Formats: sequence, structure tokens, C-alpha cells
Amino acid sequence: MPTRNVLRDPTAVARAAAEWVVEAAARATEARGAFRLGLSGGRTPEPLYRLLAGREFNGRVDWRHVHALFADERDAPPTEPESNYWWIRKLLLEPAEIPPASVHRMKADAADLEAAAREYETRLTEPLDLLVLGVGEDGHTASLFPGSPLLDERTLRVAAVHDSPKPPPRRITLTPRAIAEARAVLVLVTGSGKSAAVGRALAPAGETRSCPARLLCEYEWLMDEAAAGA
Ligand code: 6PG
Repeated sequence: MPTRNVLRDPTAVARAAAEWVVEAAARATEARGAFRLGLSGGRTPEPLYRLLAGREFNGRVDWRHVHALFADERDAPPTEPESNYWWIRKLLLEPAEIPPASVHRMKADAADLEAAAREYETRLTEPLDLLVLGVGEDGHTASLFPGSPLLDERTLRVAAVHDSPKPPPRRITLTPRAIAEARAVLVLVTGSGKSAAVGRALAPAGETRSCPARLLCEYEWLMDEAAAGA
């Protein structure tokens, strides 16, 4: 059942999300011996990643069974904070000691972006157990931006983006198909700057083409009061 949870502030959102991750990890590990977790970049999930890596939650997930995958990646070297990988590695992957072989970086810094997307597709033959997504002020999610032809993509699970309106223009992203195939999706939104996008994403009627986050309206949303707005 889709739910929209409005929590007091970003800290409360992160705590609720961390509980979700703990439960999803336990369920997946018990059922399939592994937990395939899809992670988003951006600032919103940072408190979640810190919490998961910290004293309170770290011991509640068996990180040896976690496979860390990505919702999207920007054309930036993995050694630079412009890449989603750099932040996620610093905040979560390293402190939680997820085995490097279980970390599946999207190589959006590769010269051949299409080949890098095709290579990542091979890692998506099994669905993600939990996909954590954010929403941009313009209503994008992952690197699916308003007006993108990828919103109609039904075959590929991973795609190259060459003209992202949010810099950098070159990216790799999961497609609507990969999102739809995930066993669970958790949408995190905080801050008053997102309230208009939340309104459009969750309105009873509207177009995914102008607000890609409408793809997510059937999933679990965790928002703070500022993002939930009116
Ligand atoms: C990216 C993201 C992107 C992000 C939203 C929200 O690479 O930019 O993965 O989809 O989730 O833009 O970003 P903030 O959380 O920083 O607002």
C-alpha cells in the first residue's frame, strides 16, 4: 500500500528511512541471502547514510550481504565530490565496510557513456530489493528530468543521459522499468524548496512527462513537514 508519511524534520525522515532499510535488509537476506540496495545521490539522503553507518544502526544490518547499486550517477571522477559515488562511499560504503566487490558504481565518467550504461544493465537482471530515491525541485527523480524521452523507455533498465538540465549534462540513470521492477521504493523529500514538486507528484491528476516524480506516487514517501507544505 502506498503511504505518505509526514515527519517533523529531516532527522525524523532519516530515522524512519533507516528503520525501513534495516527491515528490508533482514527480509531480503532471509529470503535470498543478499540485499540489493539502490542508492541515490543528492543532499537529501545524507542524514540517512550517516545514520546507517553510525553506532545506532550499523550493527542492525549485516553489511556483508549488501550489494550497493546506484539510482543515477553524474559524469565526474569517483575521486571527486561531484560524483554521487564519492559521497555515498564516504558516508556509507566505507564506514559500513561494504565489501568493495559488492559496490556497483555507475561509470558515468567513461568516454563511452552508452557502453557504460549497457554494462550496468547486466547488474540489473535481478530486481533491487529497496530503491531509495529523491525528488528535485523541478520534479525529477534519479536522472529522469521533465521532458526526457527516457520517461517512455520500456525496454532498458539503465540509460545514458546526454543533456541533463541539472549539471553535469552527461549521466547514467535507472529507467522507469528498473524503478517499477524494484521490490520496494522509498522516496525521501525534505525542505520547503521541494513542496511544489511534492504537490505536483502526488496530485490526483497530472503528467509524468512534466513531473517525473509522478512515477513514484504509488510508493512509500517519507517527507518532512516543510516538503509536505500545504
Ligand atoms: C543527482 C540525484 C538526484 C537527486 C535529486 C534531489 O544525482 O542529482 O541522484 O536525482 O536525488 O536531484 O537532490 P537533492 O537531494 O540534493 O535535493
